Amino acid sequence: MTTVGIDDISIYSPGFFYPLEDLAHRHGVDPAKYLYGIGQEQMAVPSPDEDIVTMAANAVAPVLTADVRERISTVIFATESGVDQSKSAGMFVHGVLGLNPNCRVVEFKQACYSATAGLQFACDLVRHRPSEKVLVIASDIARYERNSEGECTQGAGAVAMVIAKNPSLVEIHPQSGLFSLDVMDFWRPNHRDAAYVDGKLSIDVYLRSLRESYADFCRKDGMPLAAIEKLCFHQPFTKMSKKAFAALREAAGAEADHLDETSYAESQAYGRQIGNTYAASLYIALASLLDNCAEDLGGRNIGLFSYGSGSVGEFFAATVRQGYRRRLRTRAHRALLAGRREIDYATYVAWFYNSAKSAEDRVCPEETAGRYRLAAIDAQRRVYAAARNLELNAAACP
Ligand code: CAA
Repeated sequence: MTTVGIDDISIYSPGFFYPLEDLAHRHGVDPAKYLYGIGQEQMAVPSPDEDIVTMAANAVAPVLTADVRERISTVIFATESGVDQSKSAGMFVHGVLGLNPNCRVVEFKQACYSATAGLQFACDLVRHRPSEKVLVIASDIARYERNSEGECTQGAGAVAMVIAKNPSLVEIHPQSGLFSLDVMDFWRPNHRDAAYVDGKLSIDVYLRSLRESYADFCRKDGMPLAAIEKLCFHQPFTKMSKKAFAALREAAGAEADHLDETSYAESQAYGRQIGNTYAASLYIALASLLDNCAEDLGGRNIGLFSYGSGSVGEFFAATVRQGYRRRLRTRAHRALLAGRREIDYATYVAWFYNSAKSAEDRVCPEETAGRYRLAAIDAQRRVYAAARNLELNAAACP
């Protein structure tokens, strides 16, 4: 069978962050709760001229080689913070980046899980038609009520993955364990900017979903855990990976004896600085693992768990390709995070909360450090543009 998987991966997160230590002081909470209890240091904050489309365009732009442009047959945009009830966010990206007109573009939604559905569908498309490439994009802004328990887990970011045969980075194996359960642990009705969440229930359902997906994976003769050396979990906050690992170890028994906290430590580095990115979170964790693991992972296997509230879970396995490091974008990813600017509480509140609320037409002043921006909402049409500070931003966003 043709080997299929991720041929390229690129992440983007806004050029501004708000430190959780400051949020803890505002909330009258011991900062150690956010820094260690939750495991988050910073929250990425989009400026008012950034949204899921501009974040996605910034993530996609670096992977658009001439070959990718020519061979993309399908663009799958995974998000739970969609900007339109009808038009796919991917169509805006298609326009902003001038993608090949002879391709299909769709949006997928199932909370934080949808990017995994996109990845699996993309792999099956390529297995069926190996000359094609599929672009899978995940982009989200994780937004909770102000002063709620979820606020400290907020964040924003996007990931773009090129799915192709004979991939340069990781092969995705076709067997996966699945578990779906209709539950109200986290949801966002159409009229709301911020999610409703039953935090404790969401953790319980996440962990149940992991156990059930893993059991299904074993029933389907998925790769034995004994052959897996690294793990990546959906990561709403980095402490969740620790909880997930403990649940998996208990479920797997002796098969997991060779695994410990170092098996997923590198997957937490980017998420700790960015915050939750919903659909993008698992794949930002994967990029973090590939970029930051000091050992050469070529030929080694990774177990991945994807979870989307509401709820769907999927456990699957991937094998890192030999020579993968040549194709990584480690330097660009690190420069992106290192180049971000800290903002104060007033700016965070104005940008994260107040700017999201308005459905009115407006012209957006240029604030972004990215290459693409939301320039205006004109007669209820979203108008996207290249940033005027393009050269400046290209340095901040290589
Ligand atoms: N020093 C160190 N640690 C401290 C501390 C201190 N001073 N004070 C508290 N802690 C620890 C607690 O012991 C606890 O650790 P454990 O979980 O290991 O026991 C941790 O900090 C958190 O404390 P609380 O449980 O009291 O936190 P909370 O009730 O205020 O809220 C939360 C935590 C429920 C996760 C909340 O942030 C939330 O609702 N988040 C959004 C929902 C979410 O992310 N759910 C995850 C699963 S669902 C999913 O994954 C989908 C998705 O993306 C949303």
